[in-house]
Amino acid sequence: MDEKAWEALKRSAMEARAKAYAPYSGFSVGAALRTQSGQVFIGCNVENASYGATICAERAALAAAVAAGERELAALAIASNASGPIPPCGICRQCLAELGTRLPIRSYAGDAELEYELSALLPHAFGREQLD
Ligand code: THU
Repeated sequence: MDEKAWEALKRSAMEARAKAYAPYSGFSVGAALRTQSGQVFIGCNVENASYGATICAERAALAAAVAAGERELAALAIASNASGPIPPCGICRQCLAELGTRLPIRSYAGDAELEYELSALLPHAFGREQLD
């Protein structure tokens, strides 16, 4: 994906972060997922008084893409208010891997930025082939 598209995806993730509902942790996260068709789906973390019911930004974006009929993921941008770029949590790695692990991910915090590929964050992923 070209740098211009990454810039736009970063902006979308930052806009989503501003919508985060994080009254318990105060940790706001936004995610923007671009699919192969060029559409962008956003998500933010949605916390809950029953802490374990919290939804992460990345899974919220994934659910939005799937609900729109989009399953071919192209790139993911994550924006947080942490002191440095954050990688997606383990549950989100597993959920994203359902649709393929060749997913480039860029994470942003302030002026800092990190890039990973999902396959490197979740090697030896459990997948549908194990269910055969
Ligand atoms: N969180 C995300 O939304 N994405 C991540 O990758 C890591 C954590 C949220 C969950 C919770 O609302 C808050 O950040 C602190 O863990």
